[in-house]
Amino acid sequence: MDFFDTVDKRRSTRAFQAKEVDVKTIKQILDTVNLAPSAGDLQAYRISIVKSKKTKEELMSACLDQEFVAQASVVFIFSADKKQSEVKYGARGYELYAVQDATIAAAYCQLAATALGLACAWVGAFDPLEVSRIINAEPEEVPVAVIPVGYPNARPSWTGRKELKELVRQI
Ligand SMILES: Cc1cc2nc3c(=O)[nH]c(=O)nc-3n(C[C@H](O)[C@H](O)[C@H](O)COP(=O)(O)O)c2cc1C
Repeated sequence: MDFFDTVDKRRSTRAFQAKEVDVKTIKQILDTVNLAPSAGDLQAYRISIVKSKKTKEELMSACLDQEFVAQASVVFIFSADKKQSEVKYGARGYELYAVQDATIAAAYCQLAATALGLACAWVGAFDPLEVSRIINAEPEEVPVAVIPVGYPNARPSWTGRKELKELVRQI
């Protein structure tokens, strides 16, 4: 799929078919994520992959009972490895770069999934301590995004956007 079609096609999808996403497809998503830029090329993030029904249900509870989290075939959790970025960049790495690294990686995940005919949603409403427990996060590892991925049940409608003039400032 052409890049611009992929960007246009991505929609937050909150209903999935039971059909499983196979290992090869998951690997393709991960290989794409691994191309994302990161501060100093440190890739100060971790990716946790959850496929088991039991753990997806735990995650769903941690995500304020958003049911589609458990319904998705596979859930990717992107977490910031703050310590790793701090070693090179100090407070800026700790507070900002690691979170940005994880965020960009999660965005690549969404676009790769879309390009492969899958659908996903970005879930940011979750209990960070509970998600950290589920993914066995290291002490300075902070979950940033939970991305449930699966085959869509229906294409969600367009949510609309601001006018560019509200976003862009000409200096
Ligand atoms: C940081 C962030 C947090 C979000 N958290 C949630 C969430 O917890 N649950 C949810 O259903 N969607 C969540 N979304 C998805 C947004 O609601 C969605 O991207 C927005 O409404 C635009 O719709 P679209 O993605 O279909 O273009 C989140 C998106 C972002 C970027």
